[in-house]
Formats: sequence, C-alpha cells, structure tokens
Amino acid sequence: AKVGLELPHEAADLHVTGAALYTDDLIMRTSGVLHAWPVQAPHARALITDLRVKPAYDVDGVVRVLTAEDVPGVNDAGIKHDEPLFPSEVMFHGHAVCWVLGETLDAARRGAEAIEVDYEPLPSLMTLTEAIEQESFQGHQRTISRGDAAAGLAAASHRFTGEFEFGGQEHFYLETHSSLALVDENGQIFVQCSTQHPSETQEIVAHVLGVDSHAVTVQCLRMGGGFGGKEMQPHGFAAIAALGATLTGRPVRLRLNRTQDMTMSGKRHPFQASWEIGFDDDGLITGLRATLTSDGGWSLDLSEPVLARALCHIDNAYWIPNIEAHGRIAKTNKTSQTAFRGFGGPQGMIVIEDILGRCAPLLGLPAEELRRRNLYSAGQSTPYGQPVRHPERLADIWSQLLDKADYPARLAALEVFNAEHPHTKRGLAITPVKFGISFNLTAFNQAGALVHVYKDGSVLINHGGTEMGQGLHTKMIQVAATALGVPLSAVRLAPTRTDKVPNTSATAASSGADLNGGAIKNACDQIRDRLAEVAGRKLNIHPADVRFHDGVVTGIGFHDREISFAELAHAAYFQRVSLWAAGFYRTEGLHWDAERMQGEPFKYFAYGAALAEVEVDGFTGAYRMVRADIVHDVGDSLSPLIDVGQIEGGFVQGAGWLTLEQLRWDTGDGPNRGRLTTQAASTYKLPSFSEMPETFHVHLYEKATESGVVYGSKAVGEPPLMLAFCVREALRQAAASFGPPGTSVDLASPATPEAVYWALDAARTTG
Ligand code: MTE
Ligand code: HPA
Repeated sequence: AKVGLELPHEAADLHVTGAALYTDDLIMRTSGVLHAWPVQAPHARALITDLRVKPAYDVDGVVRVLTAEDVPGVNDAGIKHDEPLFPSEVMFHGHAVCWVLGETLDAARRGAEAIEVDYEPLPSLMTLTEAIEQESFQGHQRTISRGDAAAGLAAASHRFTGEFEFGGQEHFYLETHSSLALVDENGQIFVQCSTQHPSETQEIVAHVLGVDSHAVTVQCLRMGGGFGGKEMQPHGFAAIAALGATLTGRPVRLRLNRTQDMTMSGKRHPFQASWEIGFDDDGLITGLRATLTSDGGWSLDLSEPVLARALCHIDNAYWIPNIEAHGRIAKTNKTSQTAFRGFGGPQGMIVIEDILGRCAPLLGLPAEELRRRNLYSAGQSTPYGQPVRHPERLADIWSQLLDKADYPARLAALEVFNAEHPHTKRGLAITPVKFGISFNLTAFNQAGALVHVYKDGSVLINHGGTEMGQGLHTKMIQVAATALGVPLSAVRLAPTRTDKVPNTSATAASSGADLNGGAIKNACDQIRDRLAEVAGRKLNIHPADVRFHDGVVTGIGFHDREISFAELAHAAYFQRVSLWAAGFYRTEGLHWDAERMQGEPFKYFAYGAALAEVEVDGFTGAYRMVRADIVHDVGDSLSPLIDVGQIEGGFVQGAGWLTLEQLRWDTGDGPNRGRLTTQAASTYKLPSFSEMPETFHVHLYEKATESGVVYGSKAVGEPPLMLAFCVREALRQAAASFGPPGTSVDLASPATPEAVYWALDAARTTG
C-alpha cells in the first residue's frame, strides 16, 4: 500500500528551490495586468461623509477607481451579509474605503494617496472590557449545560473563582492574501485565489458581480500557508479583483503587502473568561460555571462557530459532571476575527488548563496529578452529550509520554536544580489534548472528487480540498495510488477548481484528508470495480478475486495470469467501460442541535499529550524551552513524515500564541486610537529557531487504527497546536518555584518574558 509510506511533501523540492508557483507568481504569465491598492481609513470608527476620487485620475497610470457605485450585485463580502465591501461607515482602523487600479502598483498607490475622504469620527470600542460594559454583542449567545452546576459547586469541598483574559494571534502565513482575476475568452470570470474555501470565494464573487455561480470559476493552485486565515477572509479581496476585471476587461491582481494584510485581515479571537469551579477532596471536579466572551471584531465572520467550538472544548480531556458554560461574542472596532488553527478549541481549552494550573497548588496536588485524576474514563460523555469513545487512549498516551520523556528522573533532577539555583528555576508540565474532528455544522462534512484514468493507465485526480503546505495533496496521491493499486508516479494531482468539483467545504477543521480522501477513495473504488470485471474476463478469474498492486493486475492464486494496469485500462476503453468517476463522501453518524448545543457533532476525537521543560531567569523573566516530548494519536498515519511535520509545526505555532505573539492596538483616546501597533515582524514576535525546544521528540501513538475513516487514519492539522499548553504551564510552575511551596501563579497569555517576570515576582513576594 502507498498509504503509510514516509514520503516528503509532494512539492517539497519546489518549495525549497523557490520554483513552486503561488497565486501572485501567475502575473508573470499574464499580460496586461492591473494592480490594486486600497484607501485605508485612519479611524477606528467614522462615517464617510464625502469621497472624492477625481484627483486619483490625475495620477499617471491610474486606470480605474472602484467604489460602491460600481457594484452590479450586492455590496457585501460576508456570508452573514454584515460586511459591506465598500463601507459607508468605517468600522476599524485600516478599513478599506475604496480601491484604485493602476498600470503599476506604484501608480495605484499614488492614486490611492490622491483620493480625498471626509470622515466624521464616531465613538469606538477597542477592548473586551469596553464592549462588555457597553453591552456591544453580535450573533447568538450560546450555553452548554449538563447536570446541575450550582449543585455541583455547592457540594464541592474546595471552590475557586477567577477571571482570565487572553490574546489572539496573527496568522502570519508567508504568502499574504492574493487574487488574480480575469474574464476569459468564453466570458467566464476566472479567479486565481489563495483561498481555503474556493466554493465560498466563488459564491461571494458571484453575489458581488450579480451573476450566477456558474459564471465564476475559482482556482487555488496552492497557498503559502492559510492556518484558517484564508477560510473566509479572501472573499472580499477576490471580489475586488473580479469586479476590477469585469469593469476594465483586463486582468486585475490584488496582493496585500504585509502591513495591509495585518491591518485588514482577521485574526484569532482574543477571549475573556470568568469562572467558578469546585473540587472534591480527591481533586475531582464537581462543577464548573463559566462565561466566555470572544472579541469578534467588527463583523461576525466565523465568530459563531468559533464560539461553539470553544464551548465544546472547555472540558478539554476532563470529566466535568456538572457544567454550565455561556458564550457570547463582543462587537468591537477591530479587524473581523476569524478561523485560526483550532478554531475556538484552543480558547476553550486554555480556560480549563489555566484553572487547573492555578488551582493545583491550592489543592495541595502536583498539577500532573490533578490533571491525570480528572481525565475522562470509560462510559463518560462530553458536556454536549457525545460519548467519549476510547478514553483509555488518553491514559495510555499519558503513561507512554511520562515513560518516553523519563519524567520521574527528570522531575527529581529538576527539584535538585531548583534547590541549587535561587535565581534560575525550571518547570516541567504535561497537558493533554482531546479535539473533536468534524465541522460542528453537519452539512459541511461532505466532499467530492473527480478521478480520471487515461488509456495509458495514468491517473489524474482532482478533489475539493486545498493545499496550504499541510501535505493534503501528498496524502491524496497516496490514497489514489493505494485504492487503484498503481505506483505513486502514475498519479498526478491537478489544482483545486470549482468547475471540477462543485459545492465544496472549506479545507478546515483538520478534515481535509478525511473528507477528500473518502471522496477520492470512493471514485477510485468505482473505477477499480469496473476494471475488475474487465480483468476477470481477460484473466478468466472471478472479479472478486482480482488484485491490483503496483501497476500489476493479477488474481488470488493465479500469479501466472497477469496484466499491467495500463493494458487493462486500454482494454477497458475498447470495451466501452468508463474510466473516470466522480467520488463523494459524507461523514456518517453526526447530529448536532446548534441551539441546544447537544448532539454528536464529531466523528471521533484526536488525542495527544505533551510535556515541556523550561528554564526561567529570575532577573528578567527570560526563558528557554529546554525540551519537549509529544505522544500524539493520528490513527494509522497516511503519511508519517507529513504528520510528524504537522505535529511539530502545530506545537511551535501554539507555543508562539501562548508565549511570544502579542497583538497590540492603540486603545488610547489620541488620534491613532484603533491602530494596530504590531503591524510587522519587527514588533510582532514569531517563534524562530531560537524558540524551538532544544530537544524535541515527537512520537506517533501506535496501534491506533480508527474505524470508519479513510485507511484507519485520523486528522492531524489542528490538534497538535493545543499540545503547547504544557509550555505555558511549565512557565507557570517555574514562576511558582520562586515562591514558597503551594504558591498559585496567575500568568498572562501570551506569557512573554515580561509577563513571566511579573508572575515570578508576585510569587517571590508571596514568600
Ligand atoms: N500546515 C501548514 N503547513 N500550513 C497551513 O496553513 N493549516 C492548518 C493545518 N496545518 C496549515 C497547516 C489548519 S488551520 C488546518 S484546519 C489544516 O492544516 C487543514 O488541512 P487538513 O484538513 O488537510 O489537515
Ligand atoms: N476548524 C475547526 N472547526 C471548524 C473550522 C475550522 O477551521 N471551520 C469550521 N468549523
């Protein structure tokens, strides 16, 4: 079988040599391209009282200014219809008011500078606190409850309350938002777009242009990273390019530079949480009451499903018998916050991990012990009523990890180290992950594929998923090669296009391989069944006994009778047997009541656990990650090298969110109120080599076949990000070691060196 092989990413050579083409590279192959530049508003909120575009036309090279009057269809870029493409009211600092098309990027930029806009500034909301005070909310509020939270708290022998506000995250994909639109020789509007959701980009472009979906084709060649940032945010930019192309008859390219991307596009939602928790004498949770408020920014975008996933993950891997968790979405004057790897899962899970980290010392238990005692066990279900199948995997992963990481010995060594070093302390923490796989919205759990076998036996596959570096295409080639029994070299994969596979879901929720793999396998199985009939006749074997392996077709027990896959395809053609198929897959067994927040929204859970050791300097709060160990469950891996890469990358991205990456907006009342002050890599600190764990071991959990998923595999894209909680918890424990035993530490998130300093300083002064 070709699944399970350790293969490099299918485009690895192209990536590292720079030969891989991305959307914006395609302008080199397109003539007469116009370039787009936005006019960005310098206010957090303001009415646009006048817009004078005429001066732009006096600038050399300016071809066209795009404003609301030019929109033939609907002036809206949001799936919720709350995102005017050309706004009459500025909703955040940097909001694009209109766009200029120029012969060169510089002409477009100078044109944009010449445009005169009159604004009437309005009061704005920049923080969650301000929004909560003013009761500025949007979308539906939701509650998950099970049992009796009040009774569970009343029965507790230990009760604690707290609040916690934590930051969002910039996607910082290497390739910024990018679209190239043209009207082709057939009048078809063709948009090349860096999008995780080509079908929705197509839909929004069609709405804006006032045409049917069949008049718009969207293609995504590959993305230089998406991370959720290109699940919904590309649509408006694609619509601007498509509008420009239809109005001018020339190809229009829109690519944001880094500052534009950071100031205009949505990020991970920051949240605020307030909570009350109870434990019994053994440290078992008896009840939890919590309110989560997310900062949705100026429009809804994906804030509702993000909130739903946050509420569905507040339990992380722990049994909470009585719970009541409320969720609401604040509306503020910031970019419209959106999907980001984990999609609210990290925001829900950090709340319980923060609670356990703070409460363990108050309960007189090691945090490792408190966490382990509360892990789900057999027969238990989540607060939304889904049985936790295979909870034994959690306990098993936990003990394997302690073993592989040599935990007892290292803990002993750490205690000696800390006793000997008054100004440097080490912390060692382990945290679990349980992450639900499937889109909460049941309808999205479907996928299509198109598989062609040519007469020479070569195979061309197309599917609805997009490639953003995660290795989906590599896995899909492996699936097709396995299902058809041909060598990997016989399979070629064509770019994702809406005219090949329609009505696709976003490549998101880590479900790309599950869904599209299911669809590809379905298409291949249809073709293979037909070919087995042909082979059976040719080899005089029962079709059920025909075997396909590595391009050779034989029968059970008939090794002398064989035919090559190419010969078979050729023969099938002359017998008028169809050599291509459309595949379809839908995840069975899901049901979800979005209002009551009850059901079984997930096909299965991905499990993992990680252990991190950090060392903190007591004078500055500076720290380093000495070592990280991970055991993670990917089922039977479709592609182990890809999966290990996803685990490493997810972990480091999570550690970045939790420790380094800090988004800052100007929240003062001065003229720059609302401005994102971290607009570049110079002020927004990303993890780099020096922040990688010095020793890093990733183990795939073994004998982990998952039933009912393509070749027994499990999704891997998002869950590992949440393994990084152990880094934050290790920092908390190191900070606590500066104080007397039993010190409980509040730690800000991100736990920057500064934040760690304040935490350890507080611990030190306790003593
Ligand atoms: N890996 C890379 N290299 N680049 C990305 O943009 N996105 C992540 C994850 N891994 C991403 C990535 C996110 S947010 C998701 S949902 C999954 O990949 C999507 O792909 P999959 O469903 O095929 O796993
Ligand atoms: N991740 C998880 N769940 C989701 C997503 C995502 O990106 N999109 C919709 N549901």
